[in-house]
Amino acid sequence: MIIPVGLGKDSYDIVIERGALGKAAEIFDLDRKVMIVTDSQVPEKYYLNLAAGCKVSVAGIFQAGEASKTPQNFLNICKKMMREGFSRKDCVVAVGGGVAGDMAGFAAACYMRGIDFYNVPTTLLSQVDSSVGGKTAVDLDGVKNIIGAFHQPRGVIIDPDVLETLSPRQFACGTAEIIKIAACMDVELFGRIEREGIAGNPRIEEIIAAAVTLKARVVEEDEKEKGLRRVLNFGHTLGHGIEAVTGLYHGECVSLGMLPMCRPAVRERIKKILEREGLPVRFSEAAPEPEKVIEAAMHDKKAEGGSIVTVRLDDIGSFKFEAASEEQLMKDYLEVFG
Ligand code: GLY
Repeated sequence: MIIPVGLGKDSYDIVIERGALGKAAEIFDLDRKVMIVTDSQVPEKYYLNLAAGCKVSVAGIFQAGEASKTPQNFLNICKKMMREGFSRKDCVVAVGGGVAGDMAGFAAACYMRGIDFYNVPTTLLSQVDSSVGGKTAVDLDGVKNIIGAFHQPRGVIIDPDVLETLSPRQFACGTAEIIKIAACMDVELFGRIEREGIAGNPRIEEIIAAAVTLKARVVEEDEKEKGLRRVLNFGHTLGHGIEAVTGLYHGECVSLGMLPMCRPAVRERIKKILEREGLPVRFSEAAPEPEKVIEAAMHDKKAEGGSIVTVRLDDIGSFKFEAASEEQLMKDYLEVFG
């Protein structure tokens, strides 16, 4: 299955196919120097598979985890390319989750003012979200994605077979992003998820493709997040606040963060499928202090002039943007978690 992303001269294809990683050299132009950026948790066989198809491959392996998304690691990738004599005709490939993709993409955006970038996302979360749309970045002093650029990939390979090596917890995090986009934009996909589930679904590639298609259409309409693309922040405003003050994973925080943004009847439907996918819908251990969550949410970079744009759902398949004050956000949060 091929999903085209139409962005004029920056258009590209997303190939979704079991076993596609083994065909990377047919799908990407790897007949040149290739900087492969991956992390310590990605199975080595994925890297080796890709390296085998490159004319010259150079490895950039970093410690897995968001803590590695630093300016220093970004510079290490650039330095390695410089030492190996990479030119503007060479390229970078990310093989890994969102951290690998964001950092490799940012290195590709900056090295010699921009070289080709390809992405092979290996987590469900990066397959359905961060690999699509060209956002690249690193964190600085604990502020996420504060230094970055829009740099669209030249191609993306989504190989559902690589999901077999994901832990159930990591897999569940990806389902949160699928449920997010379906709840906002696609009644049919949401209904399918209600009926069939995502984990263990033998036709999961169809669900991934549907979610990726939705995201591609959003990016085509609003590449630089001036309007519509903000819909992808559904669940992320409070989610980022929760993430900043708990040890929960990103997808788990999005799961919790979506609930206060819905009308009660919608919330119940979303809750049911989140729970079935193994995502939290309440705090099972010590709940964070609400004040700390809200403070962190308001400190998010999207906070502007005392209010923050939130995405709200009155019905499945449609959404609205609403500016919320700190007080409103607290009220929403306490309604569900108080
Ligand atoms: N992850 C949200 C976006 O790509 O805009």
